[in-house]
Amino acid sequence: MKIRDIVQTALITAAIIVLGMIPPIPLGFIPVPIVMQNLGIMLAGIVLGAKKGTIAVSMFLLLAFLGFPVLSGGQAGPVVFIGPTAGYLLGWLITPAMMAYGLSRPIVSRSWGQLMVIWITAVLIVDAIGSFWLSVVTPISLTGSLMSNLTFIPGDSIKVFAVYLVGVRMKALTTTPVIK
Ligand code: BTN
Repeated sequence: MKIRDIVQTALITAAIIVLGMIPPIPLGFIPVPIVMQNLGIMLAGIVLGAKKGTIAVSMFLLLAFLGFPVLSGGQAGPVVFIGPTAGYLLGWLITPAMMAYGLSRPIVSRSWGQLMVIWITAVLIVDAIGSFWLSVVTPISLTGSLMSNLTFIPGDSIKVFAVYLVGVRMKALTTTPVIK
């Protein structure tokens, strides 16, 4: 990787960490809060693509695993990776690759198609994996878990829209040669 790629990747990792400093909003009925950190994950996929995006998210998850309080609410440590929210963390890890694959399909050339791909990968698939794992490690049934996760859809959909507007501009900036 070039220095430029390393800097871009590190900046997105930093952005994910900073977004984790926004206090999570707990929901009484499931042990999964509303967070802002998934904005950073979406940004990683949009701006960095599959390889650099996965590296950025992996660095952030590695820091969390090693005990640095980088997850929302200052959570950290290996135990989080088998806890109720571990499915979402796995979903976050694969989001940039899934997103890049979807966005590379020729049929997805227009904004609405791109928004749909980002929404399906960063929201629907992440929530599905998160729900499945939540039902494995808690007494909540899979149906109950999936239904509860519907709570996240409106907020996460707004995040997709916001991050898309920012992300495409950031991507345009980062891919424009400084010297022509
Ligand atoms: C963690 O900090 O351990 C992970 C939290 C995962 C929260 C998930 S991400 C998708 C959905 N949208 C939210 O705002 N919260 C959940």
